[in-house]
Amino acid sequence: MASEILVKSTPIFLVTILISVSIFSFPPNVEAIGVNWGTAASHPLPPHKVVELLKSNGINKVKLLDTDPLVLESLSGSNIHVTVGIPNFMLRSLNSSLKAAQSWVHDNLTRFVSEGGSRVLIDYIAVGDEPFLQSYGEQFYPFVVGAAANVQAALSKANLAEKVKVVVPFSSDTFQSESGLPSKARFRPDVNRTMIELLTFLNKHRAPLFVTISPFHSYYENKNLSLGFALFRETARPRNDTHKTYKNSFDLSYDAIITALSTAGFPQIDIIVGRIGWPTDGAPNATSLLAAEFIKGLIQHLHSKSTKLARSQDLPTETYVYSLLDEDKRNTTAGDFERHWGMFTFDGQAKYQVDLGQGSRKLVNAQDVEYLSSRWCVVNNNKDLSNATALALEACSAADCTDLSPGGSCFNLSWPGNISYAFNSYYQEHNQNPANCDFAGLGLITTVDPSVNSCRFLVGLKTSSISLHKCSYFCWIFSPLITILLYLGNERW
Ligand SMILES: *[C@@H]1O[C@H](CO)[C@@H](O)[C@H](O)[C@H]1NC(C)=O
Ligand SMILES: *[C@@H]1O[C@H](CO)[C@@H](O)[C@H](O)[C@H]1NC(C)=O
Ligand SMILES: *[C@@H]1O[C@H](CO)[C@@H](O)[C@H](O)[C@H]1NC(C)=O
Ligand SMILES: *[C@@H]1O[C@H](CO)[C@@H](O)[C@H](O)[C@H]1NC(C)=O
Ligand SMILES: *[C@@H]1O[C@H](CO)[C@@H](O)[C@H](O)[C@H]1NC(C)=O
Ligand SMILES: *[C@@H]1O[C@H](CO)[C@@H](O)[C@H](O)[C@H]1NC(C)=O
Ligand SMILES: *[C@@H]1O[C@H](CO)[C@@H](O)[C@H](O)[C@H]1NC(C)=O
Ligand SMILES: *[C@@H]1O[C@H](CO)[C@@H](O)[C@H](O)[C@H]1NC(C)=O
Ligand SMILES: *[C@@H]1O[C@H](CO)[C@@H](O)[C@H](O)[C@H]1NC(C)=O
Ligand SMILES: *[C@@H]1O[C@H](CO)[C@@H](O)[C@H](O)[C@H]1NC(C)=O
Repeated sequence: MASEILVKSTPIFLVTILISVSIFSFPPNVEAIGVNWGTAASHPLPPHKVVELLKSNGINKVKLLDTDPLVLESLSGSNIHVTVGIPNFMLRSLNSSLKAAQSWVHDNLTRFVSEGGSRVLIDYIAVGDEPFLQSYGEQFYPFVVGAAANVQAALSKANLAEKVKVVVPFSSDTFQSESGLPSKARFRPDVNRTMIELLTFLNKHRAPLFVTISPFHSYYENKNLSLGFALFRETARPRNDTHKTYKNSFDLSYDAIITALSTAGFPQIDIIVGRIGWPTDGAPNATSLLAAEFIKGLIQHLHSKSTKLARSQDLPTETYVYSLLDEDKRNTTAGDFERHWGMFTFDGQAKYQVDLGQGSRKLVNAQDVEYLSSRWCVVNNNKDLSNATALALEACSAADCTDLSPGGSCFNLSWPGNISYAFNSYYQEHNQNPANCDFAGLGLITTVDPSVNSCRFLVGLKTSSISLHKCSYFCWIFSPLITILLYLGNERW
């Protein structure tokens, strides 16, 4: 116990030094760089390790998608500014009932923002997660204005309206422009009326507009834009629009937002880029090399703009990189790259080096990460493998095989290497349970790392977040045990 305390206090001491050093060395804009911290992972890094990771890298703003109590408790007393989220599925009930909004504030907010050393610095509540996304159709957006108003009213009743602002994260497809020209940008016609109501609401409460900008998607969807244009390369072919020349995709999107807001009569509203990043796997051009180039380009661009410009709305007031960590349970409908937005791997190791405010020092990795044993599950080449492909596909429908997709880091594995990859992914996701490396007798547990070149066969993390509703019958047997282990492991909270 004593040695644990000793080990723990050392990083805190270091962090104090790092923070005091960085306050004086930050360029003004880099200070406004935050990160999105999502937890859609089968084995998320324990929250207190993530908070250590944030602190040791000088990151002092995070945006969450929900109000996970373990995550919020780990942020308490940390001086990290937090945006919490309300999931889309709650919008309907929050729209129709002020009582529901009051319960949400009471259960999910009040106890964390109370005064004292353990308070969590919650600045914003994001109502919905990009509820206007075009692919959602009318599922969520009719409830957004009412939900935001009820949450606002609930905040006022709880005397928290001065501390916490209500915002709504807008997807990049909320804005549209004819032939991609910013001067022609408008809100998407189907959400135009709702947008005007929301902007009126935000304006009244002096809340900023959170918006996603995604040069990666722009590049994938628009064959007319070059990779260099998305990556802030000086050599990229610029684009002209009436009187302006755009040298990168970010400025093109950002000006489109400004035009749409001005046209709608809200030229003054502050803009926060709530989500911007570059994935590193699961698609062509989704690589660590390009992601590093993108993030560096973005930070340099924001910095040079901040030193040049006088008008505040020409620059986002804050920018949140998407994302901190990879998440192997994210929905892949938009593409297999969706699970690979992290600047750090799922286990908290930096994928590349960028200056997030720590200056010329290297990014610090998560420390003392607890892994399962050095064991992998591979296909047994001595068996008849005629059914192996079908078994692997089945494994992939439950586990994460996005590295195998075209352009991915394991795409070059030839059969049956890719079968082994799938088997292992499934086996790790199930905490290396030997029964989950059976595969009708074709699986084989090995202690020799099967990783080849850039294709990493992972070893899972020791922590487990198996949720009961996703469980097979194994979980029903093991879950009481897991719950007890988790409880013991989390005792310090
Ligand atoms: C939102 O709530 C209000 C007040 O309860 C209700 O009148 C309205 O119909 C709701 N909106 C939708 C789209 O259901
Ligand atoms: C608190 O938030 C979670 C989702 O983030 C939700 O499931 C829960 O119902 C909320 N509590 C209340 C009282 O609304
Ligand atoms: C959007 O709504 C505003 C105000 O109702 C209206 O003036 C404008 O024409 C609308 N724009 C579109 C593209 O529908
Ligand atoms: C492609 O870009 C060129 C030059 O920037 C422009 O003239 C042309 O209209 C664009 N084509 C499309 C389909 O957007
Ligand atoms: C864009 O405008 C600049 C000057 O503003 C001009 O030199 C350049 O040729 C134009 N490019 C295109 C593709 O029209
Ligand atoms: C990705 O980059 C390659 C060159 O490395 C290029 O040929 C390809 O078209 C790009 N992929 C996509 C989807 O744009
Ligand atoms: C993934 O997203 C799509 C589109 O939003 C949705 O239809 C689908 O149900 C989602 N899948 C899961 C597993 O949540
Ligand atoms: C392949 O699967 C089928 C159907 O499940 C089964 O009948 C067959 O015996 C299997 N073949 C081998 C070689 O295991
Ligand atoms: C995969 O193989 C192709 C052709 O041999 C090569 O160009 C490419 O760089 C390889 N990709 C990876 C991720 O190793
Ligand atoms: C593995 O590779 C084979 C041959 O290229 C392919 O048919 C199969 O679908 C791949 N399996 C997986 C899980 O990627």
